[in-house]
Amino acid sequence: MAEPAQKTRPAGERSQSAPAEIAFRSVVKRYPGRDTPAVENLSFEVPPGEICVLIGPSGCGKTTALKMVNRLIAITDGDITIDGASVRQLELTQLRRGIGYVFQQIGLFPHLSVENNIGTVPRLLGWPKERIRARASELLELVGLDPSADLKRYPGEFSGGQQQRIGVARAMAADPPIMLMDEPFGAVDPIARDRLQNDFLRLHRQVRKTVIFVTHDIDEALKMGDRIAIMRAGHLVQIATADELLARPVDDFVASFVGADRGLKRLRVHSLRDIQLEPASGAEDSSPTITRDTTLHYALSMMLTEGTTQLQVVDGEKGAVGVVRMDAITKLVASDADGMPQPAASVTEPSPR
Ligand SMILES: Nc1ncnc2c1ncn2[C@@H]1O[C@H](COP(=O)(O)OP(=O)(O)OP(=O)(O)O)[C@@H](O)[C@H]1O
Ligand SMILES: [Mg+2]
Repeated sequence: MAEPAQKTRPAGERSQSAPAEIAFRSVVKRYPGRDTPAVENLSFEVPPGEICVLIGPSGCGKTTALKMVNRLIAITDGDITIDGASVRQLELTQLRRGIGYVFQQIGLFPHLSVENNIGTVPRLLGWPKERIRARASELLELVGLDPSADLKRYPGEFSGGQQQRIGVARAMAADPPIMLMDEPFGAVDPIARDRLQNDFLRLHRQVRKTVIFVTHDIDEALKMGDRIAIMRAGHLVQIATADELLARPVDDFVASFVGADRGLKRLRVHSLRDIQLEPASGAEDSSPTITRDTTLHYALSMMLTEGTTQLQVVDGEKGAVGVVRMDAITKLVASDADGMPQPAASVTEPSPR
């Protein structure tokens, strides 16, 4: 049984509507009657087709930042652009038509059937009934539900996780190039959440969109994000890939946020493809085998449970491609994000999370 490897991006993904670039430019949000801005001088870019995760403690401004993209909340100062065009200039319906939104609290309409929930935006766009039904069926299947049984049911008849799938389907209904997802998998248990995450990543490979994904679960952020933006009290503290964040947190806040076990977490963002394998000499024929797409986390775990320090690596049709040794894994975890050894760090007692 192989653990799914890190997210990979095979060439030749299909894409109906081309994904767009989103840029925050010194964005400020001040709510009336509040002394401190909810969002302060926020600047970052999300390249087309990438998933950018926004993460930070409760109240740090994630939802506010997200809702300014489709102007559910008005920007006080600065600007947000989509493919260079200011969201402040775009006509509101046109803006929102290009953006799928998954609400923090699911937000399905309880009095509407699943079909009508998914059809909300297409209805506004004037799609004929048959086209809406066909699209709703297609999307339900895509998110792992059963169109023949589920289209006519109401949200209250589904579990929390299923409702979240329907929420994702609804956000994708008009095939928007952008998706804003506010803690989309927050309401489900860890196992269901893991499945939803895997399903969404698979979906994202097939139907490429630019996604801003809010969470306050660091493991979810590391798994889902091409890039992760860490916010604190309205400010952006660091934006980086999962590996950079784990290897080089900019300050103690980020270091404690990603967790004292960040070395172990790096094992999950790398697969055996990131390791220089040693040629097989024949002497290790009795070593257990492992596939090349496996995460380092799983590889190391296998070494520990099998009581060995080396594994034979196989790569699909190519068969055995070499050997991985435990020290190659520990070396990678100890290197910085460019593969260079890290400078010796002073180690302080980690604070409990
Ligand atoms: N409508 C509002 N009026 C005044 N203050 C608000 C309003 N909405 C949010 N705030 C404040 O703005 C700050 C940011 O809120 P926001 O909802 O963006 O946080 P968040 O990071 O999404 O938090 P959570 O993780 O709890 O969802 C908070 O201090 C909040 O109290
Ligand atoms: Mg929020």
